[in-house]
Amino acid sequence: MTAIHRRLLDWYDANRREMPWRGHPDPYAVWVSEIMLQQTQVETVRGYFARFMQAFPTVAALAAAQQQQVLKLWEGLGYYTRARNLQRAAQQIVTQGGGLPRDVAGWAALPGVGAYTAAAIASICFGVPAPVVDGNVIRVFARYLGWDDDFRKPAARARLAAWLQPRIAASGRPGDFNQAMMDLGAVLCTPQAPGCARCPLRGGCVARREGRQAALPARPVRQAVPTRSAVAVLARDAAGRVLLVQRAPDGLLGGLWELPNRASGDAPTARDAAHALRSAAGVRAARVESRGRFTHAFSHFKQVWHLFEAVGPVSETSSERSASAQFAVPSDLPLTTLTRRALMSAQ
Ligand code: ADE
Repeated sequence: MTAIHRRLLDWYDANRREMPWRGHPDPYAVWVSEIMLQQTQVETVRGYFARFMQAFPTVAALAAAQQQQVLKLWEGLGYYTRARNLQRAAQQIVTQGGGLPRDVAGWAALPGVGAYTAAAIASICFGVPAPVVDGNVIRVFARYLGWDDDFRKPAARARLAAWLQPRIAASGRPGDFNQAMMDLGAVLCTPQAPGCARCPLRGGCVARREGRQAALPARPVRQAVPTRSAVAVLARDAAGRVLLVQRAPDGLLGGLWELPNRASGDAPTARDAAHALRSAAGVRAARVESRGRFTHAFSHFKQVWHLFEAVGPVSETSSERSASAQFAVPSDLPLTTLTRRALMSAQ
C-alpha cells in the first residue's frame, strides 16, 4: 500500500489552496499568519494578514509600533491577547538581536506561541519534522486510526503526535505534510458529512470501514458555558462623539475601548443603566432608553449586553469623569466587538 505521506502530499499538490502566506519567503510573515489562524478561519484571515503586513512589514516595524495601532488592525479578529503577545514577542526578538528562531523550542519560548504554532512555523519555514496536532488533525486521524481517546487529554495528543512523527519525517516535506493535514480536515474530513469518496486516505480509514465517521473523534460531554449579563450605555456629547471607556491593559480584551457598562441582572432598568454610566464613566444622563440586547460568545462564557442610550443632555458628575473614559470618534479607537455591534445598531 502507498505510504500515507505520499497519498497526503499527492492530494495536497493536486488540490492546492492558495493562501498569501503559503510559499512566503519570510518566516515573520508565516508567524503572523499562524497567530491569526489560531482562532480564525482562513477566509477571514486573508484580509487581516494583508493589512497587517502592509502596516508592519518587518519584526522591527511591529516591535516599534504603537500598541493601539496593532490592536486597531486586529479589531474584529478577536482574542486580542494574540496581538499583544505577537508584539511583545517581536520586541523580545529585536532586543535579543533581531534573529527569528529556527527550531520548535525557540518558537515555543516566545509569548503566544504554543506547541501547535511552534511546530507549524518550524516545519513550514525550516523543514523541521514536527507534526501539528489541533482539532482538524485530531478529527482526521481519530477517524483514520479508529481511536476513541479523549483528545482533550495531553496524553492522547502526545500519542497521536508520536504516531505522526515518523510519517512526517519520511515525507521529506514537513511543512506541506502539516498543511495537507490541516486542509484535509478543513475541506474533506469535516465534522458533518465528510467527503470520504474524494479522500486520499479512504483506503485505510477505520472509521469509514466501520461507519463510525460521526462518532469520531469521541466527544466527552461538555459543561454548559455560564452567561454574564451587563448593562451598557451609549452616550454622546453635543458634538456627537461617543463616550468610551478603556479596559485595563491586562486580561480579557485588555486595552480595547468599550461603552460604559456594569455587571447586571437579567432585566436591568433605566435606573440601573444610569447608575452604570455614573459608576463606569463618571457621567450623568438626564434620561436613558432601552435599545435591546446583544450577545457575544467567548470561549468560556457568554456575554449579554442590555443596551441603553442616553437621550437627554449628559453632564459630568461632581466627582468628574473617570480617567479611562473619554468622548471620542469610535472609528479612531480599537473597540470590542459588542461595542462595534451596539454602535452599528444605533446608527
Ligand atoms: N490553520 C493554521 N495554520 C494553517 C495553515 N498554515 N494553512 C491552513 N490552515 C491553517
